[in-house]
Amino acid sequence: MSLIKTLETMQGKIVERIQQINALEPEERMKAVNELKSELLGKRGEIVQARQQLKDALPEDKPILGQLINKIITAINEAIEETKQYVETCQLEERLKKETIDISLPGREVRMGTKHILTRVLEDLEDLFISMGYQVVEGPEVEVDLYNFGKMNLPKEHPARDMQDTFYISSEVLLRTQTSPVQARTMEKHDFSKGPLKMISPGKVYRRDDDDATHSHQFQQIEGLVIDKHITMGDLKGTLEVIAKYMFGEERSIRLRPSYFPFTEPSVEVDVSCFKCSGQGCSVCKKTGWIEVLGAGMVHPNVLEMSGVDSTQYSGFAFGLGLERFTMLKYGVDDIRHFYQNDVRFLNQFKTLLEGEA
Ligand code: PHE
Repeated sequence: MSLIKTLETMQGKIVERIQQINALEPEERMKAVNELKSELLGKRGEIVQARQQLKDALPEDKPILGQLINKIITAINEAIEETKQYVETCQLEERLKKETIDISLPGREVRMGTKHILTRVLEDLEDLFISMGYQVVEGPEVEVDLYNFGKMNLPKEHPARDMQDTFYISSEVLLRTQTSPVQARTMEKHDFSKGPLKMISPGKVYRRDDDDATHSHQFQQIEGLVIDKHITMGDLKGTLEVIAKYMFGEERSIRLRPSYFPFTEPSVEVDVSCFKCSGQGCSVCKKTGWIEVLGAGMVHPNVLEMSGVDSTQYSGFAFGLGLERFTMLKYGVDDIRHFYQNDVRFLNQFKTLLEGEA
């Protein structure tokens, strides 16, 4: 058989083989196409043999033979390339199928939280004071000695400094032990020709106390301050009554006991009639019928003067209450540490109380 014939038959056979191969499963297809390749193009392959015979061919036949051989090689290489791509596509599809995420699976429930009970009580009290025309002012927690003590009528070496054990950062800088320094900061800025000053200042305070059921090294206070001409103790008492009734019920009454704070004169300790036993005597009020809720007094003239307020013309009252203590009393919480531990069993007790309000 002439070489041309041999090559033409080979070409026909190859077309047929490739058709057969294309009908196979992807994995077998790759194997079959490689076999075909080595059969034809391998060391002992038919093409190699044909090439060897080429040198004996007639010179005029050589170009045609050469072209034929090239065509066969190209056809095989194309078949291999095609198969490779096909197999890769199949494998990719397979993988995508396996990795599909089943989005019909129900997800995990996202639970709604609620506002912390302390935040809630604070917002309640803020609403009350805003409704009475007070402004809400905040001050720095890292405070200077001058404002935390000096301008509050507690010069250096004043013995009453021991009433509040202080975290000092340096000799002049400290973590505020009370919200009272915001009194001075606000008075200094207030333009009294435009009207009275009525403010509350909520915020964190710090004291070097050992934590126990009723003490925490960090807690929250709400400071109150009203300065105007002719402010009297009667105004203070009226305001305190409003607070007590708002927090602990309309039937509550208050009692003022003399006390001492360096920044107020006179100073009072404020008791509210026991909301549990209504004055009969129980464990909450320690059988006295009264519960101590806050400290207050008439602003000391020294404090007014140190903040640039003329004490011959102006007077005022101030009070300071502990937010945690208020909340503990109102909701019967027996340990201040519960507020900070984020135990959902504790927090959830207030959930129903707060639902619908958020
Ligand atoms: N600053 C006082 C304290 O922390 C509370 C207080 C404020 C008392 C204002 C009187 C007037 O104990």
